[in-house]
Amino acid sequence: MIKFLNELSDLRVQISGWKRNGYIVGLVPTMGSLHNGHLSLLSIAREHCDKVVTSIYVNPTQFSENEDFYRYPRDVNADLEKLSSSNTCDLVYQPSNMYHKEHKTYIVPNGVALNLETENRPHFFDGVSTIVLKLFNQIQPDIVIFGEKDYQQLLVVKQLMRDLDLPIQIVAGKIFREKDGLAMSSRNVYLSENERKLASNIYRVLKLTRKKIQQGFDVSKVIKNGIAELGSIGINQIDYFTLRDPDNLERLTQFNKDSRLLIALYVGTTRLIDNISVPLINNGETDIEN
Ligand code: PAF
Repeated sequence: MIKFLNELSDLRVQISGWKRNGYIVGLVPTMGSLHNGHLSLLSIAREHCDKVVTSIYVNPTQFSENEDFYRYPRDVNADLEKLSSSNTCDLVYQPSNMYHKEHKTYIVPNGVALNLETENRPHFFDGVSTIVLKLFNQIQPDIVIFGEKDYQQLLVVKQLMRDLDLPIQIVAGKIFREKDGLAMSSRNVYLSENERKLASNIYRVLKLTRKKIQQGFDVSKVIKNGIAELGSIGINQIDYFTLRDPDNLERLTQFNKDSRLLIALYVGTTRLIDNISVPLINNGETDIEN
């Protein structure tokens, strides 16, 4: 039976009971509207932990005013059904509010938080880092699973753990994709039928670009071609499409080590992000997932 808690005081009683029993507690933080990508993160938590918590909270501080906080998909009943039938967690924590009305303290990360998402969403990682730290303080997990779909977020959280000495292991979960390659995201529900079809080209172009990079073509030319290819099918608003160091996200103009291709773009009015690893390989094999 999954437990469902809203109150921090109840959560603390439950967690301290588990800790007294020596259980390893895992957490998958979410904003709800759960899909199979979330469930895959929860199964990783199941493998590593005795007790698994998922939090559901649409965090207002990571949205800017022109973003979709108010219309972000929320369906707790559907979420609970998915969680019960997959049997992937023991406790759902759904606080109604995480911020005191006098809340004044924010984490402002540097390093890997600069550039990429931050160029278009300046306060995004302040909001994410602040809520993540609050959730960690409340839930006190030993292990937390974050998806690679939000690759920069994963690195920002790892940096936060390192810089603030938090005794928590961060585990990365692979990107979960629809059959046609579109990375699963709660925001995919915003796409019309036609936009949904267009969106499957993102992964196709990522894979094509990776192949060309691995074959030794000039990185900036190959990325330009990828942007042109997306433009030719009507995806014209691209916030970034870039090859980066997978650990510190520094821009790479040449392909001479394992790298990561990251992309953010709009399909219609919906902003989507995706990324793919670009391993340095010598045997000509290029079709490596993720
Ligand atoms: O990735 C998300 O869903 C959110 O950014 C997170 C980590 C739950 C923080 O609100």
